[in-house]
Amino acid sequence: MIMAIALAIIVAASVLFHIVNPWWITPLASNWKSMDDTLTITLVITGLFFVVINLFVVYTLVRFRHREGVRAVRQPESKSLERWLIGVTTVGIIALLAPGLVVYANYVKTPHDALTLEVLGQQWQWRFRFAGADGKLGLTETRFVSATNPFGLDPADAAGQDDILIAADEVHLPLGKPVNVLLRSHDVLHDFYVPPFRARMNMVPGQVSTFWFTPTVTGRYEALCSQLCGVGHPNMRAHVVVEDAASFQAWHNALPTFAAMQANVRAAAAAGAGAGSLAERGRALADAKGCVACHTIDGSPRVGPTWKGLYGKTESLRDGSTAKVDEKFLRDFIREPQARGVKGFAPVMPKIELSDEELAALVAYIQTLGGPPAQAAGEQKAQR
Ligand code: CUA
Repeated sequence: MIMAIALAIIVAASVLFHIVNPWWITPLASNWKSMDDTLTITLVITGLFFVVINLFVVYTLVRFRHREGVRAVRQPESKSLERWLIGVTTVGIIALLAPGLVVYANYVKTPHDALTLEVLGQQWQWRFRFAGADGKLGLTETRFVSATNPFGLDPADAAGQDDILIAADEVHLPLGKPVNVLLRSHDVLHDFYVPPFRARMNMVPGQVSTFWFTPTVTGRYEALCSQLCGVGHPNMRAHVVVEDAASFQAWHNALPTFAAMQANVRAAAAAGAGAGSLAERGRALADAKGCVACHTIDGSPRVGPTWKGLYGKTESLRDGSTAKVDEKFLRDFIREPQARGVKGFAPVMPKIELSDEELAALVAYIQTLGGPPAQAAGEQKAQR
């Protein structure tokens, strides 16, 4: 009897919670009302089954409870009951699945006048690309990916020269224009998800996936990665700004093309590789290799130690020893992250392929971010 009462309370509380809960769908920022309707259909059908089945269990618990002198009668088979159950279940499952097929078919069928936006995912950051004046995205290939060409654009492809590259975690979109989203990943499975748009799609290494939507409400929306993709996954965030056409055009016009970016790289190389530019290359590398997902440069802790004030600091290691963070320590640590763990941090740093020159640039960059404050003050005193 207690079980029956408990079940009845669970059913009543679940229905009540659904009615009074404050987490209703956010203001619509896309055209995907059909997706909301599909979710509602799913909720109603599963909710109905939940209530009916649990109330049936309550009924049987009460009706067939143990009584002296009453014995249960075995009824091995009931053809008509089975037919009913199969029929109702079949209709229920069709009603659950069919609307989703229709919505999905529309979801990947982009309208002709759509603006094409490429989203590139990488552990653990986002990049974006628009087609340039020619309206065509240039070819990309994994073998072209480098610190100076993070999109992996084919330098020989004419269509790619005017492509507009956004190596940052914010992208703008014009209000009311359909956007065709092409998704690529450089390494593992990611998923581009902007919750208020109710639109998301997996990004699979080696293929381009696609969906489309129309932003219908201006604002700044958070985009996040929705597939567990490693230790930096929770930091893999970006923003999508939806604004009127004029503001979008102004923002868009200020962005560099692939050709301009490559010219900058060549100019920097021609200017020579002094200490300053070595650290500058290190900064670009930290960005390109995704180090920044786990290491901040402003002193705030993340998955790994902050790089601010790291150089010259004495770290406690997991084996109980201490070590001064100098050039050799950093080189050895980045080459073999699992060899010596730093106390207070999980041993999750991946081994990253770096050339000797890239390693030197990265260490030079960390060096520019300064030493520990107490020690810096001590050195100043010593100099006086
Ligand atoms: Cu990328 Cu999670």
